Amino acid sequence: MELGLAGRSAIVTGGASNIGRAIVRGLVDEGALVTIADVDEAQAQRVADESPPGRVFVDRTDVTDVESVEGMVQRTLAAAGAPHILVNCAGWTIDRLFLDKPRSEWEREIAVDIWGFINVTRALLPHMVAQLYGRVVSIGSDAGRIGEWREAVYSGTKASVIAMSKSLARELGGRGITFNVVCPGIVPGQRETSGAASVWSGEQGAQFTPEILEKAARAYPLRRVGTPEDIVPAVLFLASDCASYITGQTLSVSGGYTMM
Ligand SMILES: NC(=O)c1ccc[n+]([C@@H]2O[C@H](COP(=O)([O-])OP(=O)(O)OC[C@H]3O[C@@H](n4cnc5c(N)ncnc54)[C@H](O)[C@@H]3O)[C@@H](O)[C@H]2O)c1
Repeated sequence: MELGLAGRSAIVTGGASNIGRAIVRGLVDEGALVTIADVDEAQAQRVADESPPGRVFVDRTDVTDVESVEGMVQRTLAAAGAPHILVNCAGWTIDRLFLDKPRSEWEREIAVDIWGFINVTRALLPHMVAQLYGRVVSIGSDAGRIGEWREAVYSGTKASVIAMSKSLARELGGRGITFNVVCPGIVPGQRETSGAASVWSGEQGAQFTPEILEKAARAYPLRRVGTPEDIVPAVLFLASDCASYITGQTLSVSGGYTMM
């Protein structure tokens, strides 16, 4: 299938590590120009360095900070033109029982996962409206579809991303802009492909021991947890004109963990 992504300008938030990194590489392989908007500049630069020269722009962006996001959008316009594609991938969580979880962790989950989506989408939309074209693909989570154990507030943030995407699909479909959500299940990060700010480099990653991952895999119909590369084809498809008649949809890419 010809995706027609060559020459497209894309922004990938959280594009430095794990799933976001794989999405950046997938877009670059299809010929797109990509801005990585991520707090982890060093890891984003590593991804740029492993890409062909001039195809990946690194922008140190904090998606929770409106001014930082506005600056990133302006610099992307100057470097790569008006973005055709936005992939909202930045996210943060630590799995913990609701009763054991400190408020500071909920606040960070809400700031990155909900406000991050709002800030970046709001900053970019006027430019998509002006060109009557846009593809917004957001990374949700199966947690947001089923309400996952030890992920109460995170599940709520991802359900929010799904609901906001549906509302925006209704509001902006007439302007040629589509909004869809891809929901991974567990996709462990690796040391070589995840920077210091990745959840996989901290307490969250440490919880997912090989034994835990093996146990989780047994609950998946396809009997394995995901890889970052598993997520990429669905994102590229929804970011392309092959998906021009698809909007407001939520697609799980999780080995059949959820089916709805
Ligand atoms: N990996 C999984 O098991 C899994 C499962 C379901 C959903 N998801 C979702 O997929 C997305 C990517 O997950 P991942 O495993 O690659 O995570 P990750 O932690 O490895 O990568 C997240 C990236 O976002 C960046 N980031 C964090 N806070 C930021 C901020 N305030 N501003 C800008 N960038 C910021 C980090 O530097 C990192 O590069 C997230 O939205 C996550 O919630 C992941």
